[in-house]
Amino acid sequence: MSKLFFPILLSLCLVLLVQAGKRSSKESKKEKHNKASNLKNQSDYYCYDDIDHPYVFFATKTSYRWNRNKNDDEITPPGCVAQQFWLLSRHGSRNPSTGEMMTLKSILPLIQNEIISNYKAGKGSLCKDDVENLEKWVFRANVNDDEYLVKEGFKELEDIGDRYQDRFPKLITKPFTNSSYIFKHTESERTNASARAFAKGIFGKKDLPNVFFQELSSPDSLLKFDELCSKWKKEVHKNPKASIEKKLFEESDEISSVIKSVTNRLGFMSPLNLSDISEMYTMCTFDKAWRPKKLSPWCAVFSKEDLKILEYREDLKYYYEDGYGFPINYEQACMPLKDVYDSFRQVVEGTTSSNPKGIFYFTHTATLLKVMARFGLFKDAIEMTHSNRHLMKKREWRTSLINSFAAHLALVLFNCSDGHYITAYVQERPIKLPGCGSDELCKYSDFKKQYEKLAASCNIDEICRI
Ligand SMILES: *[C@@H]1O[C@H](CO)[C@@H](O)[C@H](O)[C@H]1NC(C)=O
Ligand SMILES: *[C@@H]1O[C@H](CO)[C@@H](O)[C@H](O)[C@H]1NC(C)=O
Ligand SMILES: *[C@@H]1O[C@H](CO)[C@@H](O)[C@H](O)[C@H]1NC(C)=O
Ligand SMILES: *[C@@H]1O[C@H](CO)[C@@H](O)[C@H](O)[C@H]1NC(C)=O
Ligand SMILES: *[C@@H]1O[C@H](CO)[C@@H](O)[C@H](O)[C@H]1NC(C)=O
Repeated sequence: MSKLFFPILLSLCLVLLVQAGKRSSKESKKEKHNKASNLKNQSDYYCYDDIDHPYVFFATKTSYRWNRNKNDDEITPPGCVAQQFWLLSRHGSRNPSTGEMMTLKSILPLIQNEIISNYKAGKGSLCKDDVENLEKWVFRANVNDDEYLVKEGFKELEDIGDRYQDRFPKLITKPFTNSSYIFKHTESERTNASARAFAKGIFGKKDLPNVFFQELSSPDSLLKFDELCSKWKKEVHKNPKASIEKKLFEESDEISSVIKSVTNRLGFMSPLNLSDISEMYTMCTFDKAWRPKKLSPWCAVFSKEDLKILEYREDLKYYYEDGYGFPINYEQACMPLKDVYDSFRQVVEGTTSSNPKGIFYFTHTATLLKVMARFGLFKDAIEMTHSNRHLMKKREWRTSLINSFAAHLALVLFNCSDGHYITAYVQERPIKLPGCGSDELCKYSDFKKQYEKLAASCNIDEICRI
């Protein structure tokens, strides 16, 4: 009897204690809210710390986590066998450049101090928890790790490799052999490490030292063609007129509203400038890329609408620098298209006997976006401009979705009972290629019709001549 009684009593006490604890923490939180809102306008008041699902779409600094597809079931279209896998991937989450990190490290602590003293003087509308989170913040990254892949970035690529192998277990087989796989990356730590992470995801830790990575090409007409493209450099990259839409957007009422919103929230008397706001935004985005599930105190300085406006500014920039804004952006991007086109053609036509099963390339936003545009992907019916953000709310050209960290385009060639087919995947999900009707499984003949000319006429010397 007593043997039973004591454990019951004990657990009853425990339950009561826990309940009491919950209530008191709730009450103290409520109290905090009341105290804060006494000083401030109630309708403006909220705590970032209390949001369960904060906004996480930060253009090209978006974490891959929000785009990944965890369904790694084997992909087996009826009557088909996967014959070749081709991948063009951006590197995973990285550090900012050394220069950017030095700026963040020197400027943000100054802003941090001012925010805290503003709060103590009863100014602004940040809640206590958000201020406390900001107070605890310190810049932790090593400024010498110039754009290095971070741990999260390594994991992104390793997991993607692992999942693609699960989807195509009969094609992407272990162990590594030189005759079956081609790995190539650009000249940078982050693409090198990304390639290795992906290879580890496929072949495992033990086999990784056997994986061969192709010699670097310098210059690299396949994975960094824009460095060779004089026409693009002159007319777009180094031409201030080419980024006029972004500039006009920065002078728009929408950006003014962000400046006002952040200035007021943080309790500054005179308006912050866009460069200070950009530093806070950068820290928020990198924090969330490095630790996607953790809170970033710097994100608390923005409302969701602020973040959407800043996201649009980034998308505008990439639209004119790498996307549909200027034809030269994508015209120069035919080499990767030709690479996969020729490779598939050789398999289909049986012109070589030594076909690799997997071809894996690791590169950068500037390359991947241009190639996506060359394939005709994510094209909106209307142009993006500084004045039509509201019309473009459901835009295809949204870099948060198409060019997050570890974003990629994969093409898979299938040999089916009635001929060859191709499926394209972006962020591990099948997409429809232009010219392929309504099916994600595209007939080889339709693929050929769509891209044959682009592959055959790919002469970047000519395309890029000024
Ligand atoms: C609080 O803010 C809202 C919207 O920003 C405004 O309409 C309202 O007048 C403000 N109320 C007070 C008491 O300042
Ligand atoms: C693959 O080829 C490279 C270069 O030809 C060679 O150095 C390497 O040992 C080869 N690896 C394997 C596993 O055969
Ligand atoms: C790539 O990274 C590996 C491992 O860190 C290193 O040994 C190798 O030299 C790097 N390759 C290049 C081309 O930098
Ligand atoms: C922005 O304001 C800060 C002070 O908050 C100042 O140090 C900085 O030079 C300004 N930047 C620009 C581009 O005006
Ligand atoms: C495609 O598969 C068929 C058998 O279903 C085979 O006869 C043919 O050689 C394959 N084609 C290629 C290019 O491998």
